[in-house]
Amino acid sequence: MNCGLVYAHFSLFLPQFLTKKHAMVDLFEKLKMEAGPLAKYSHLPDDYFFFPKLEGDIGPHMKFNGKDVLNWSLNNYLGLANHPEVRKSDAEAAAQYGMGHPMGARMMSGNSVHHIALEKQLAEFVGKQDVMLLNYGYQGVVSIIDAIVDRKDVIVYDAESHACIIDGVRLHMGKRFVYQHNDMESLDKQLQRATKLANETGGGILVITEGVFGMSGKQGNLKGVVELKKKYNFRLFVDDAHGFGTMGKTGAGTGEEQGVQDQIDLYFSTFAKSMASIGAFVGGDARIIKFLRYSMRSQIYAKSLPMPLVIGAIKRLELLRTRPELKENLWKIVNAMQNGLKERGFNIGTTTSPVTPVLFKGGVGEAANMAMDLRENFNIFCSVVIYPVVPKDVIMFRIIPTAVHTMEDVERTLTAFSVLKEKLDSGFYRNEELVAVTKV
Ligand SMILES: Cc1ncc(COP(=O)(O)O)c(C=O)c1O
Repeated sequence: MNCGLVYAHFSLFLPQFLTKKHAMVDLFEKLKMEAGPLAKYSHLPDDYFFFPKLEGDIGPHMKFNGKDVLNWSLNNYLGLANHPEVRKSDAEAAAQYGMGHPMGARMMSGNSVHHIALEKQLAEFVGKQDVMLLNYGYQGVVSIIDAIVDRKDVIVYDAESHACIIDGVRLHMGKRFVYQHNDMESLDKQLQRATKLANETGGGILVITEGVFGMSGKQGNLKGVVELKKKYNFRLFVDDAHGFGTMGKTGAGTGEEQGVQDQIDLYFSTFAKSMASIGAFVGGDARIIKFLRYSMRSQIYAKSLPMPLVIGAIKRLELLRTRPELKENLWKIVNAMQNGLKERGFNIGTTTSPVTPVLFKGGVGEAANMAMDLRENFNIFCSVVIYPVVPKDVIMFRIIPTAVHTMEDVERTLTAFSVLKEKLDSGFYRNEELVAVTKV
């Protein structure tokens, strides 16, 4: 989303809005649920399309609505969520420390040798001088951006950035320019503008992109961005939530994959994907990480990560580093799924990572019917993405292969998608009735 445009529009509108008289309303009364395109399905249980409950041990085979389903919707890339060594380590750490320890913010009373050890190991793994642990990825990214720029600085960021980047940019008091998604010509143009402005204000420039874009699966063109460092003076911040553990020879991420890890000034990842947990980290030069330790409001004014999560992350990192077969299995499944889909004529967009979108033409009603058909009649659970995340006439199923899926799971899914496509093309899903209610 082009935040620059949104703000420009808002500020033009503001004076008139303030001068015109309006009757006051009750704040909560004003908050009405819009009858969106999915409202016609509201008679269904609340936890079907939205807030679904996947039950049982985390993995490819779980229970949904009481039935066994083949599950492709979790970012458990390396299968660590239910790895026996991980489960054991998590349980032992919880038994030893409970979830409260250590209490207080890291800076005041919430530090431990385990927090420090995890940071050291992460720094070594991602090739940075130092790393700082963060409680959550989303909050961490917002807060990093908030800490490192002031009103004189200029942010230049990719148009398809994750919400946490957009929200961090929203907090910025200075100028921001958005460049067209992964388009290096557009970035070059925006850097020209940013440089001119920074020269007037005496500020610096921060470029922000993702390592792997989580919806399309496309890698950010980090090589191209880094190339522009020869022409412009800027610092690069990369959110590699989907690349950490999945990309690069050792799994150190998209920077490693593209041979530019040392040119990434701030490297970020969450523990919520390959690490199958909660927490996050940011790595960079020791001086900057130290600055962040003393400046990041989301960490200074919040309790530090509980010990079981820290000890659990140390175990996960150990497995990620020492069991290459996990990443190899992941990619075996990714390649089988992506090649199988392409051979069958499916459009999987521009992915160059494990994230596998399957794109169809159709409306929201058809999307709901297809998702329901897949769940009810093929016992396959897969997230479906609709407008406004994708354009109005696009239906996107988002398949997340993992190291613990099998080739049989892939075959079963390819067959199901072929049937779905035939039915979509024949107009079957255009029916207003939900197909799973009518059965096949
Ligand atoms: C690109 C990206 N950045 C940040 C986050 C937020 O991380 P967390 O879940 O740890 O808040 C996510 C999603 O989890 C993500 O996909």
